[in-house]
Amino acid sequence: MYWQRPDGPVFLFVGGEGPIYDFDVLAVAAFFALQYSMLHRGRKKPLQHLVRHLAERTLNGHHVDMAKDHRALLLAVEHRFYGDSINPDGLKTENLADLSSQQALADLAVVHQYISQSFNLSCRNTWISFGGSYSGSLSAWFRGKFPSLVYGAVASSAPVKAKLDFSEYNNVVGLSLMNEAVGGSEKCLAKIREAFVLVEAALIDGNFTKVAADFGCCQTPRNPDDQSELMQNLADIIMGTVQYNEEGVLISIKELCGVMTDESEEKEAEMEAYNHLVKLSQIYRSTSQEQCLDISYEKTVKDLMDTSLKTRKRAERQWTYQTCTEFGFYQTCEDTACPFSGMLTLQAQTKLCATVFGISQHSLPARIAFTNSYYGGDNPHTHRVLYVNGGVDPWKELSVVQDSSEEAQTVFIKDTAHCADMSRERLTDHHSLRKARQEIENHVARWLRTAAQEKMNNRGELL
Ligand SMILES: *[C@@H]1O[C@H](CO)[C@@H](O)[C@H](O)[C@H]1NC(C)=O
Ligand SMILES: *[C@@H]1O[C@H](CO)[C@@H](O)[C@H](O)[C@H]1NC(C)=O
Repeated sequence: MYWQRPDGPVFLFVGGEGPIYDFDVLAVAAFFALQYSMLHRGRKKPLQHLVRHLAERTLNGHHVDMAKDHRALLLAVEHRFYGDSINPDGLKTENLADLSSQQALADLAVVHQYISQSFNLSCRNTWISFGGSYSGSLSAWFRGKFPSLVYGAVASSAPVKAKLDFSEYNNVVGLSLMNEAVGGSEKCLAKIREAFVLVEAALIDGNFTKVAADFGCCQTPRNPDDQSELMQNLADIIMGTVQYNEEGVLISIKELCGVMTDESEEKEAEMEAYNHLVKLSQIYRSTSQEQCLDISYEKTVKDLMDTSLKTRKRAERQWTYQTCTEFGFYQTCEDTACPFSGMLTLQAQTKLCATVFGISQHSLPARIAFTNSYYGGDNPHTHRVLYVNGGVDPWKELSVVQDSSEEAQTVFIKDTAHCADMSRERLTDHHSLRKARQEIENHVARWLRTAAQEKMNNRGELL
């Protein structure tokens, strides 16, 4: 709709671990046949608030505005095995062998050819790719592996380094909860820590029914698996709040810390932090359609093993598979810096790979090492890839945040969370975010200029 025929550039929005919504852009479903969050294994509750918001990002984000400015042909390509790009029996474990980032990149190459044919494109059309989170990594890797197909790439909050035990995630969550620039405080972090210690203590004392009643659980957390499921659910509220701070999630870090450090209520000194966590979980539960908090481990496993295609939004099974085979990314809490419960172990997370897919836990380190050697980890030696990260975002730990070469290839936004730059400008945006978008625009404009010059020079040589 913005495209200047026949020579205008092509802006490719790379799909990630979720469906692409196909309104405003020319969406191409991956062959055979916005993004969700990479939060844990795609938890249900905090996510509901995200899906719509993130979908908006696909449709009218910063890249759409840039496409308008540069009169670009705008494309969005859904990742195979997500959204509508799944074969009818595609989620069966034996079929998941075709689900990988490498296959997704190969799909992009085929889409490049297909689009080039259908729109009569030539080497005069300069391709630029965009993506955020996992799809940001794909955007960077597409440029790295197929440099002749895409001239430049923007990779927002892209965890390009695979890591089995991603304990840094929760360490950054802790630091962000202390960060006064975004409404955190030392006290807030201390209260959260204390609250989790108290919940653990209550479980150790065997006060199962009280804990179940306090947090509105559907089941009584008697067995250790359900107990860690409860802890995961509680931690997810806080992890999600930090990762998507001020990006359309239910509450911000500032508001969360307001609840956790509230002194207005009657002081029941001992259990104060516990009660504040109860309050926080109530705020979340009141917005969910479910009557109670599901903490059944058995049900989690059953859902992950379910191969039916009930809804195109399904992503947990597929994304969990990719964590087992390629990335790890397990947000554990065994490190003392983690503010939540030590019940969130690497062992529990990797056990799911074996239970759900029959993938041996011992095979994981080698798989992750392969991913890093194949793509280059956080030292990818890519040229004309711009890595954008936010200081509050835990995923920055696995991205590229320092320029290794003379050519600037990173943008760091101090006070923003995950993929903030991808949204269209809002009145409430921090100055640093506006400045970052401007920098991205400058890079893209420069790439298009140099591409045009190179083409002129080549033509000159031919004449
Ligand atoms: C591509 O070129 C062919 C032949 O010149 C023409 O018939 C067709 O309409 C063109 N397609 C587009 C999308 O411009
Ligand atoms: C468990 O319940 C008992 C009885 O209500 C109470 O005295 C005790 O403090 C509780 N333990 C914890 C750790 O909350």
